[in-house]
Amino acid sequence: MSRAVVYEKFGGPEVLELREVPEPHAGPGEVRIRVAAAGLNPMDWVLASQPEAAARFGITVPSGFGYDLAGVVDEVGDGATGFAVGDRVLGGALGRAVADFVVVKTPAEGFWPTPDGISNEVASTLPVAGMTAAAALAAIDLQSGDTVLIGGAAGGVGVFAMQLAKIAGARVIGTASEGTFEFLRQFGAEPVAYGPGLADRVRALAPGGVTAATDLFGTETAEAALALGVPPERISTIAAGPNAPGGVRATGGFDADPAAMKHITDAILTGDLTVPIAAIFPVEQVREAVELQAGRHVHGKILITL
Ligand SMILES: NC(=O)c1ccc[n+]([C@@H]2O[C@H](COP(=O)([O-])OP(=O)(O)OC[C@H]3O[C@@H](n4cnc5c(N)ncnc54)[C@H](OP(=O)(O)O)[C@@H]3O)[C@@H](O)[C@H]2O)c1
Repeated sequence: MSRAVVYEKFGGPEVLELREVPEPHAGPGEVRIRVAAAGLNPMDWVLASQPEAAARFGITVPSGFGYDLAGVVDEVGDGATGFAVGDRVLGGALGRAVADFVVVKTPAEGFWPTPDGISNEVASTLPVAGMTAAAALAAIDLQSGDTVLIGGAAGGVGVFAMQLAKIAGARVIGTASEGTFEFLRQFGAEPVAYGPGLADRVRALAPGGVTAATDLFGTETAEAALALGVPPERISTIAAGPNAPGGVRATGGFDADPAAMKHITDAILTGDLTVPIAAIFPVEQVREAVELQAGRHVHGKILITL
């Protein structure tokens, strides 16, 4: 037997159950991963609580839970390619990552080797947040010399976006609440409070102007950037949905260049990028982990260990 987090009806954290389930095995063309850690993202609780969002991803109940994972390949089925027993890997398994074992088909898109020197905990935070940050900056062609406004800079995606933007050579201004300003400064970003009057506050901080922006929370930052004269093609959003202001680039993790993962892991290995882990929960406390995540004031990443 093995364990998996499942839910039988849509709802809040209380619908999540840690169950004993039959141990899955790798069939032909498949590999099995012994999951060590599973990173959480807002999409996890959105999919568990909003049937219409789940339907867009083909998820029906009963369902497993989670997407991001890192662990070790422990079974390789006949004819499976690209993996050997003992390989450390990170990647995504929609609606089934928070489980002792996850079986994936090969060739496995959305999986990467976990380099030596990067823990499973850190690795499990990278697939969604790291790749989404990379896509959000690629969409606006961020360059050295840019001054970029990042909305929701302290969140799971924001901590990657701030650091990738600094690595690219940009000046970074990030939105957060006042209590989070010091956290942003640790990453070399200049904090500015979100909320009404944002464009005026950014203008005061950067009288020479902002040249690009990415909105990682809603539409406020995108709208402020437009008001500051940033061309719409140099503004991206990841969470605005159909409300994205006209002309701005709506993007997401699935748009990222797969090569961006190596850029991120290389930067972690050189010490140019660190992943702030806000909290680690054992799988038995998955409900508490989701409750914290859903509060939307997390700084960095939350993950679950198995
Ligand atoms: N399209 C995609 O592929 C994709 C991928 C990943 C995520 N997303 C979406 O992108 C969003 C961000 O994801 P995430 O993992 O970064 O979320 P998160 O970790 O939950 O974000 C938390 C952060 O949001 C900040 N925040 C709270 N209220 C805010 C406001 N009104 N304005 C600006 N920032 C605010 C908080 O800062 P304070 O604590 O200072 O308030 C906190 O640091 C989510 O909606 C998620 O669903 C989309």
